Amino acid sequence: MKESGKREKRTVLVVEDDHSQMMTVCGFLARLGYDVKTAPDAEEALALLSDEAPDLILSDINLPGRSGVEFLGAVREAHQDIAVIMMTAFSSIESAVDCMRRGADDYLAKPLNFADVQARLETALLTRATRVRLAQLETQVRDRYGFDRIIGKAPAMRRVFQIIERVAPTSATVLICGRTGTGKEQIARALHYNSKRANKAFVDINCGALPEQLVASELFGHQRGAFTGATETKKGLLEVADGGTLFLDEVQALKPEVQTLLLRTLQERTIRRVGGRDNIEVDVRIIAATNRDLADSVRRGEFREDLFYRLNVVNLVLPELRERREDIPLLIEHFLAQKQGSEAPCRFDPEAMRTLVNYSWPGNVRELQNAVECALAIGTSPQLHLEDLPAHITGLTRVAGGDRQAGPRTLDDVERQHILRVLEELGNNHTRAAEILGIDRRTLYRKLDKYKIEYSA
Ligand SMILES: Nc1ncnc2c1ncn2[C@@H]1O[C@H](COP(=O)(O)OP(=O)(O)OP(=O)(O)O)[C@@H](O)[C@H]1O
Ligand SMILES: [Mg+2]
Repeated sequence: MKESGKREKRTVLVVEDDHSQMMTVCGFLARLGYDVKTAPDAEEALALLSDEAPDLILSDINLPGRSGVEFLGAVREAHQDIAVIMMTAFSSIESAVDCMRRGADDYLAKPLNFADVQARLETALLTRATRVRLAQLETQVRDRYGFDRIIGKAPAMRRVFQIIERVAPTSATVLICGRTGTGKEQIARALHYNSKRANKAFVDINCGALPEQLVASELFGHQRGAFTGATETKKGLLEVADGGTLFLDEVQALKPEVQTLLLRTLQERTIRRVGGRDNIEVDVRIIAATNRDLADSVRRGEFREDLFYRLNVVNLVLPELRERREDIPLLIEHFLAQKQGSEAPCRFDPEAMRTLVNYSWPGNVRELQNAVECALAIGTSPQLHLEDLPAHITGLTRVAGGDRQAGPRTLDDVERQHILRVLEELGNNHTRAAEILGIDRRTLYRKLDKYKIEYSA
């Protein structure tokens, strides 16, 4: 469709059986700068459409033969992108309203008030273009988060697929557990975009990323004057997500007061803004994610048991990539295809493939995706080699000229390099690094000292 913002001449097809009416309308539209085509009835109009589609159709409702309403139906079946405005006598405004329900963009009452015809035409063109764009974007998003974009054939993934296909269409609360990069957010989005809520908002909040005092007001909103700085009343994300889905990422980070408020929301399906008095009804599906063992947080008294049960209605556990190595080649294929489209595809040579399958993948699927993208960016031939992969995965040091050099030689070398890599991967988060390395933090600091790796505790 031509964009309505462009200054090129736009074509209007006028469908009208009354010859003198037709002449008046056409003359007027031509003077406004539109390219005008005409047809006396639906049949001829449809024949014209099969040749070249106009930007807008201005059609009478009362036509000889096929009625304007039927004509509209036929147009909409084949052309979502043409703006359609119906013209009708005052006496049949009801049928004009009916046309709007069937996909017309506007209607004009006869006799036409030429003073506002141009504005109505331009608005209809813009509305249609916006609708078409929105539909395209919705399709793109839905494609992107289709179940077929989640790759995996390992038994643990098959179980995940069975569950998500069953629960996606429902409004059941889902708790997704898995380490970093295992696909928690992708699954949450797939659940939303494959549910009846798909046309409503998917709102996500990272419960660990916001300062404690802000989380409650972000989630529940606040009334003007509720606290210093609350200069305006603001809707919370639970209200914004009404009719849709709220994704509570890193839910384990919620502080006790917010846990209590959230529990009340889940029980009563209402919220109260911070500083507000009214209970506001909300219809939100909750999907929560955590990279911790939440049941353990409950045992340690860090997470409310009753909230845990409310969130854990459906439980999904995403396996780590090293526990499902059979999926690595499939994922590689998927990421290669995603990046290259239909161009002649680059592939990894057997040596590189072996390394990729045997690597430990502490950053899981995200790390694998990054590695594939890195190889595609560096590699040149249709075959991707070991040296095209990030050095921390292959243990090779990249040197000018592309020759391979031996990597670390002693066990200490390997350990030092591995610690450095994990730290880099996690943005120097020592707690997480220690967790992934399977050592406690004190041991990590001892090793950092030993290997002369600089850090600030
Ligand atoms: N099974 C899968 N198939 C295809 N792509 C996947 C799969 N799992 C994860 N990905 C991709 O890997 C990347 C990381 O996934 P995602 O952001 O969902 O992980 P996460 O579990 O939310 O990680 P974090 O805990 O670090 O937030 C995304 O680009 C996602 O599309
Ligand atoms: Mg995530």
